[in-house]
Amino acid sequence: MEKSNVISTVFQHSSVKVDEVCTNLIESIQDSLDQGFKFEDISSYNHNLSVLKDLLCCHSNKISEETSKDIDVENLYGLKANVVEKVCLPLLECLYPSTDSRSDVQILLGIVGKLVAVCVQSNEEILARVLEYIEINIERYTDAKPTSYDLQHDKSLIDIHTLLEVTRHVINAAARERIDNEKLVAKFKSIFMTVTKCLEFISVELIGSTCVPVLLKVIKVDIKNVSEYAEFIWKYILNFSQLNDRRKQFLLLCGFANYFFPVTGELCCVDVKCKQEFWEILQSGLINKDSVNRKRSLYLLKRIVDICESTSLEVNTEQSQPIFWWSKDRSSELSKTWQDFMLLAEVLEEKQVHVIRPLLPRMKLLVKATETTTRKGPPLLHTSWLMTIILRSSYHESLQIIRWSAETILSLDLYKCPMIEQGLDQYLTGEMLYSLQEPKLYVREQGSSLGTMPAMAEKLVTFFTTCWEVMSQEKRGPFFCQMINNISSRHWGPAALLFICRGLAQIPSTACLDRETVQGLRKLLTGFIVAIDTYFRGSIQGYVVQILIKLVDKGTVPLEDLAQILCLVRREESLQRGATLWTSCVTWFQEGGADKTDWDHDGMRKYLENSVTQYLQTSLDSRYTTADSATAVMVARLLLLASDASIATKMDDSNSSTLIRITQTLSSVLNSINTHAYMSTHKADKALLLLSLLMKESKPKGYIQDDDVMKVINSTVENCQSECLVYVGRQISDNIISLSDLSEIELYMDYVQLLAKSVPTVRNVQFDRLVDTCIGIVNKPQEVMNLSKKMKQLSAVCILGSLSCFLSHDLTKSCDQDSKWHVELRNKICEMLKTWKLTSNFTKPSGDQRLSQQEWGKISSLFLENQWQIVEMALQHSAAPWCDMLELLALAEDTLSVGTEQTSVIVLKCLRMIIPKVKEMVTEDKLISTLEMCWASFQESRRIVAFWDVLEAFVQAAFQPCLLQLEEGSLVIVALTEYAEKLIEVGKDKNGVVNALATQLCKVLCEPDMLLHADKFITIIVDLSMFGALIRRGVRQVHDICAALETDGDSCPAHGLVKPMCNEDVLVRVSVINLLCLLNPDNQSHCCLAMKIMKRCLKVYDDVAKGSTNRFSNSQVHRQRHRLIQTVLLLQDYVDELWKIIWGHLECETQPSIRHLLEWVAMWLMHRHRHLREQLWLLFEKYRETKNLTLCSLLCIVIHMGPHLPTSEQTEYFKQAIPNILPWCMAHHFHTRIYSQAVMAKLWEQCHQLGLHDIVKQNAILTCIVDFSQQNRNSTRNVKKLLDSFFFKFLDFERDFTLETIYKIMSMMTSLTEEDWIQPEQFIENSSIWNDGTGSSFIQLRNVARDFEQCDPGLWKYISLKNPADEDAAEDTVADDTESDVQKKIMPWRQMMMDEETMSEVDHGVKQHIEGGLVVVTSLINKVPNLGGLCRTSEIFGVSEYVLGKMGYVDDKAFQVLSVTAHKWIPITEVHETKLIDYLQQKRQEGYTLVGVEQTANSVCLTEYTFPEKTLLLLGNEKEGIPVELISLLDVCVEIPQQGVIRSLNVHVSGAILIWEYRRQQLMKTCSS
Ligand SMILES: C[S@@+](CC[C@H](N)C(=O)[O-])C[C@H]1O[C@@H](n2cnc3c(N)ncnc32)[C@H](O)[C@@H]1O
Repeated sequence: MEKSNVISTVFQHSSVKVDEVCTNLIESIQDSLDQGFKFEDISSYNHNLSVLKDLLCCHSNKISEETSKDIDVENLYGLKANVVEKVCLPLLECLYPSTDSRSDVQILLGIVGKLVAVCVQSNEEILARVLEYIEINIERYTDAKPTSYDLQHDKSLIDIHTLLEVTRHVINAAARERIDNEKLVAKFKSIFMTVTKCLEFISVELIGSTCVPVLLKVIKVDIKNVSEYAEFIWKYILNFSQLNDRRKQFLLLCGFANYFFPVTGELCCVDVKCKQEFWEILQSGLINKDSVNRKRSLYLLKRIVDICESTSLEVNTEQSQPIFWWSKDRSSELSKTWQDFMLLAEVLEEKQVHVIRPLLPRMKLLVKATETTTRKGPPLLHTSWLMTIILRSSYHESLQIIRWSAETILSLDLYKCPMIEQGLDQYLTGEMLYSLQEPKLYVREQGSSLGTMPAMAEKLVTFFTTCWEVMSQEKRGPFFCQMINNISSRHWGPAALLFICRGLAQIPSTACLDRETVQGLRKLLTGFIVAIDTYFRGSIQGYVVQILIKLVDKGTVPLEDLAQILCLVRREESLQRGATLWTSCVTWFQEGGADKTDWDHDGMRKYLENSVTQYLQTSLDSRYTTADSATAVMVARLLLLASDASIATKMDDSNSSTLIRITQTLSSVLNSINTHAYMSTHKADKALLLLSLLMKESKPKGYIQDDDVMKVINSTVENCQSECLVYVGRQISDNIISLSDLSEIELYMDYVQLLAKSVPTVRNVQFDRLVDTCIGIVNKPQEVMNLSKKMKQLSAVCILGSLSCFLSHDLTKSCDQDSKWHVELRNKICEMLKTWKLTSNFTKPSGDQRLSQQEWGKISSLFLENQWQIVEMALQHSAAPWCDMLELLALAEDTLSVGTEQTSVIVLKCLRMIIPKVKEMVTEDKLISTLEMCWASFQESRRIVAFWDVLEAFVQAAFQPCLLQLEEGSLVIVALTEYAEKLIEVGKDKNGVVNALATQLCKVLCEPDMLLHADKFITIIVDLSMFGALIRRGVRQVHDICAALETDGDSCPAHGLVKPMCNEDVLVRVSVINLLCLLNPDNQSHCCLAMKIMKRCLKVYDDVAKGSTNRFSNSQVHRQRHRLIQTVLLLQDYVDELWKIIWGHLECETQPSIRHLLEWVAMWLMHRHRHLREQLWLLFEKYRETKNLTLCSLLCIVIHMGPHLPTSEQTEYFKQAIPNILPWCMAHHFHTRIYSQAVMAKLWEQCHQLGLHDIVKQNAILTCIVDFSQQNRNSTRNVKKLLDSFFFKFLDFERDFTLETIYKIMSMMTSLTEEDWIQPEQFIENSSIWNDGTGSSFIQLRNVARDFEQCDPGLWKYISLKNPADEDAAEDTVADDTESDVQKKIMPWRQMMMDEETMSEVDHGVKQHIEGGLVVVTSLINKVPNLGGLCRTSEIFGVSEYVLGKMGYVDDKAFQVLSVTAHKWIPITEVHETKLIDYLQQKRQEGYTLVGVEQTANSVCLTEYTFPEKTLLLLGNEKEGIPVELISLLDVCVEIPQQGVIRSLNVHVSGAILIWEYRRQQLMKTCSS
C-alpha cells in the first residue's frame, strides 16, 4: 500500500489533528531553513515535505468528501498558503539544478514541485500568487541571462530550471480543474509568453522536459486562443532557422505536432505544411548530422503523409513548383512515392549495407517521380527530396553507400529530372560538389586493370557536360562561376580536385567566367596545391588552364588577369612550349577577341609592347629583387604564346614584328649597359632576366633544333652576349658588395649557364675574360675579408661553379673546335684549383654584426655548393694532379658535416670519384669512417626535397666497383652489407629507395668480371629478390591515378613532362633477376654462386613464415615466399640436390601459386635425372594415406612428364601411371578425386597421341571409365575446368620456361596481385642483355606461344578475397528490382507523438494506459527470459496492462535483453503469486473475463473462442502450468490445438499466440465496423 494511503487511513481512524501536525512540520522546516540550506539536510527535507504533501492531500480529500466536520476550509487555505510562503518558495531559492546535478537536488525539486501543486489545487488565490512569483522570477532571469558561473556566485536569481520545473507541476495541477476565472487565464497566457522567451537561451533538454509541457498545458487551458499560441510558436521556430538551432526547431515542431498537424484532419491553427519555409526546415532536418533531428523530421513527414492519406486533403495544389503537395486525385501515386521515399530515408539510418542495399533501387522510382509529365499538377516529387537522400547518404558510415550517393547524383538524367529548373543549382554547385570530396571515391575498381580511370572520373565528365547542355546560356555563367568559386574557396583532397577539374575542363566552350572567378582560380593555383604530388599538381594546373580556355569570357576578363594566372603555372609540369596545353593556349590566342579589347590581335600586340616598356621602367634608386621575376615570367610567356600564335611575329609595314621589336628593345638596353652612363643596373638586370627567361622558356618539349622564334631570341642573345658578359664581369668585380646582391648573383649564374648551354658554338673572348675575372677574384690573396670582398668571392665562385656544372656534363654535343674551347676553359679552372685554397667553411666576415647566422648560412651554402661543383668537374676531367687527394677527402668529410643538403649531393658525387683515388692510400678503418659520414648525411636528408639526389649520390659513392671488389672478410664489405640492409628497411616505408640500391648494386655487379663479387652479398641479393613493400592504400591510389591519367595521353597536361608516380619497387626484382640471368651454367663459379643463392632463398622461405600466422593469399608472407620460389625455379638448372627439399615443401605449402612453382622445379629435376623418375611411383605409396595436396601435385607432375620422356621410357611410364592413378578417381577427398579424373583423362589422351597402342589395347576399359566420369554431372564441370586450365592444357614446362611465364603469366593465372607481375618490357628496359630481343641468357625472356594471357586460369584460380567484381554483379541484379519486398524498419510514430501526454509522461516514467483492453498476467511464470519476451510481445500488440509477480524482474539483464525497452512503454503492475486470487476477483468485478491459457479437460479450442474486449489472460508456470485452485476461479480456459508429439508449447509462445489472436479479433471487428 502506498504511503499516502497509510497516512490517510491513519488519519481517518484517529483523532490526530492534521493541521497541527502540518503546522509543526512547517515550523521545523522553517527553522532549518533559517539556519541556512544545507545539502546534507536534503533527505530530511525530502521526508518532511513528502509527509506534508500527503497530509495536505488527504486533508483536501477529506474536505471534498465532507467526511469530517471539524476541518474548516479556511484553515486549510491558511495551511497551504503557509506551506507555499514559508516552505516552498524559500526552498526554490536554494535549489540550483543547472549547476548542481546531484540527484538529491533533482528529487527535492520534484517534491517541492508536487507540494506546490497540491497547494494551488482548488485554490485560485494561491495559484495566482505562485504564478505571479514564477513570472516575475522568470522575467528577472530572462533579463539577466546569467552564465553558470554567474549562477554559482550570485544567488539573487532563481535557477530557470527550478522555476520551469515548478511551473510544470503547478500548471499540471491547475489544468486538472476547469478554469473560468478570466484573470487567471490571462495570467496563464502571460506565463506562456514569458516561458517562450526562455526558449532561445535555455538548453534543448530543458525545453523538452519542462517548457513544452508547460506551454502545451497553457494551450489546453485557453484552447479558444490556440491559433494565437500556435502562431507565436511558429515564429519562434522560424527564428531558430536563423540561429541554426535545428534541435530546438524540431523539438517544437514535434511537441506542437497536434496543433500544427492534427491527425484527425481538423483545421490547423497554423497550416505550416503550406509554407515553403516549413519544408525547407524539414529537409534540412533530414540531412542533419544530428540523428535526433533526422528522426524527428522523418516523423513529421510521416505524420503529414499519413494525414494526407487518411483525410484526402488538398495541399499546395495551386503552387507551380511546391516542395510538397497532395491531391485527392493523385493520392495513390503520391502515397506510393512517399512510402518509397520514407523507406529509403529510414533505412539509411541503418549501418549494415546488406539491409540498405535492397532498398537503394527505389531511388530510381523517386527519380522517375520527379519527372514532369503531361498530367495535371506538378511532378509527384520535388527534386529537392532527391537531394536530401543523396546528401544523407554522402556521409553514411559505409563507403559503399557514399559511393552509391555520388554515382546516383552524377548519373541523373538532367534532361528529365528538373533539378535545375527547380532551382537546385546551388545544391549542385555546392553541397553536391563537396560530397564528392571523399578520396576513396576515386579508387580504381577492383578487378580492373592498372591504368583504368576510376568510374567516378568519367561520370564527372558526363555530368558537367550534361549540366552545360541542359542549361540556357544565361544560366550557365552563374552556374559555372558559382561552382568554380566554391572549388577555389575550399581545401580539397588532391584526387577529388584533380578529377573535378578534369571534368570541368571537358565541357564545351562557352564564354561565361567572370573576373572574380578567374581571380579565384588564381588563388587556387597558389594555395594548397603547391604542396601536393607533382604529377597531380601539374595536371590540376593544366586543367585549370584548360577550363580558362574553354570558359573565360574575353569580353569581361582582361588579358592581364589571364597573364597573371599563366605565369603561375609551372613550365616543367604543364605549360611548356610544344606541349599540348601550350598548343591549346596558342590556338586560343589566335582566336583573338572583340575589337578594341586587349584580346584582339592588335590589342594583344599593344599590350605586350606596353608591358615590356613598363617592365623595363625603373627608378634610379630601385634595386633588382626576386619579385621582378613574376612579371618577367608573365611577359616572357605571353610573348612566346603570342609569337607561336603568329600574333607577335606578324610583320608590319616597317618589316618588323612585336617579337622583333621587343627583342630589339632588350638588345638595345643590354648593348648599352656598359656605355650608357645613366642606365640603372636595375634596368640592366631586368633586361638580362627577361632575356634569360626567353631563352629558357622558348626551349620546347623534346627540343631538337631551333625554330624561328628561338632563332630570333638566340640571335638577340648572341648579339648582346659580349656586352652582357662584360657587364656581369664588371658587376662581380665592382658592384656585388652586400647581402642584398644575392639575387643578382643568382641571376648572373643562371644567365651564364643558359648562355653556355644555348650558344656553345662560337667562342667568345668575353667568356674567357669573365672566367679570368672570376679566377682573378678567387685567387686574389686576401688578408682581411670584409663582407664586400666575401660577396665578390661568392659571386666569382658561383659563376665558375655554374659554368663547371655545364662543362662537366655537356661535352659530347659540341663539335671538335668548341670542345677545344671547353677543354681550355676547364683547364683554366683546374689550374686555378692548384693554388686556390678550398674550404669547408665559408666563414662569416668577422666583426659584421648586421649579419645573422641564418642569413650567412644561405650564402655559405651557395659558396660551398659551387666550390664543389668546380671540384666535381675537375675530378671528372683533369688527369693531372691538381691537389692532394687525401686533403680533398678530409675536406669533403668536413663539408659533409657542416654543409646543407644541396652541398651533400655534390660532395657525395665528388667522394664517389675520390674514394677510388685514395683507396690504396688509406686504411680500411678510414674508408669505413668515410662511408659512415656519407651514411650520416643521407640520414639527415630524409625529410628534404633533395632526398632522392642524396640517396642516389650515396649509393653510387658506397656501392662502387672499387669497394665491392674488396675481399670477402673486409670490414668495408660488412659495413656495405649493413647499409644495404638499412636501406631495405627504409625502403619498406618509402617506395623507390630500395630500387636505387638495387639498380646501383646490380649495375656494378653486371659489369665484366664483377659478377662473382656477388658472392659477398648473397643475403642482400636474396633480400632484394623477394622485395616488394606493402604499399599503403593512399600511395597505391596515387600510383593508380597516375597510371590512369597516363592513359589519357596528351590530354593530361602533365603527361610527358612529369614522371608519374609509379610502383618502382617492382623494379628491384627486375634488377636482381636480370643479374641472375647473366649466370652461365657452364661456369663452375657461377654454379657455385647460384647454389648459394638458392640455398639462402630456401632458408629465408622457411624463416619468413615463422612467427607469422597470416596465411591469406596475397599476404606479405605469401608474396615473399612466392618470390623466393620463383628464384629457386629460375636457378633450378644449377642445382641437383633439391629433390627432397622440394617434396618437403610440397608437403606443407598451401598456396597454390607456390605449389605450382615447386611442382615445376620437381619436373625439371625428374627431367634431368632418371633415378628421380623412378622414385615417382614410390611417392604415390608414401603419400597414399595422408597428404591429399601432395598427391594432387604428384598427379600434376605425372601428366606433364609423360610427353617429355625419352620414347624408350614412355610405355613403361604409362603402364605404371595407370594403376597408380586409377584408384584415386574415386577418392573421398574432393580435390584428389577431381585431379585424378582430369589426369586420367589427359593421360589417356596422351597415350593415344603418343601412339602407345599396347597400353591403349590393354586398358581398353579405361575409355568407358573416362567417358563415364565425364558424364557424371557432379564433377564434370570441375574436371573440365581443370583440363582447360592454363597449367593442364597449355603449360609445357620445357618450352615455356621463360621469364615471362614465371614472372607474369604464372602470377596472373594464380591471382597474385598485379603489383607482383613483371612485364617482359620491364626486364628489357633495365638491362642490355635483352637488347636483341632474345638475350644471351640461359633462360628466354618471352614465350614462343604468345596467347597465354587469354588462357583460362580455370580451377587454378582460387578466389582468396571475395571478388568485388562479383559483388558488384550481385549488386546489379538487385539494382533493378524496385518492387520486391524489403525489410522495413517500423517507426511507431503514432506512439511517438510528442504531445503533452507522452512528452511529460515518457520523461517521467509514467506509461500510457489504454483502459479496458487486454490484461496479461504472468505472475505464475518464473523464467526471466520468458517474462522479458512476453513483455515485448505485449507491448507490440498494445496490451493495456502487463502483470508481473515481482517488479524487480524488469531490472534483470536477461529480462531487458528480450524486452528491448518494451517495459518502458507498457503499464506494468506487480501482483505476487500469493495475491493472485484477490487480484483476479477484483478484475472480475471490473468486468473482465478471466481466461486461462492452459490445456485442461474443459478447455475451449482457440479456433472456437471469441475474446471479449475486456479480457484477462492468465498464463501458467513453465513446469506446473496453472494450479487447479486458480483454474476453478477462471471463466474459461483456452488451449491452442497441437499436432505434434511434444506435450505443450513454451509459455511465451503460447502467450504470444493468444495475445495475437485477441488482437486479430479486435482488428477484424474494427475493420468490419
Ligand atoms: C510448458 S507448459 C506447462 C506445463 C504443462 N501444463 C504440463 O504439465 O504439461 C507452460 C505453459 O504454457 C502454456 N501452454 C503450453 N502449451 C499450451 C497449449 N497448447 N495451449 C494453451 N496453453 C499452452 C500454458 O499456459 C502452460 O501453463
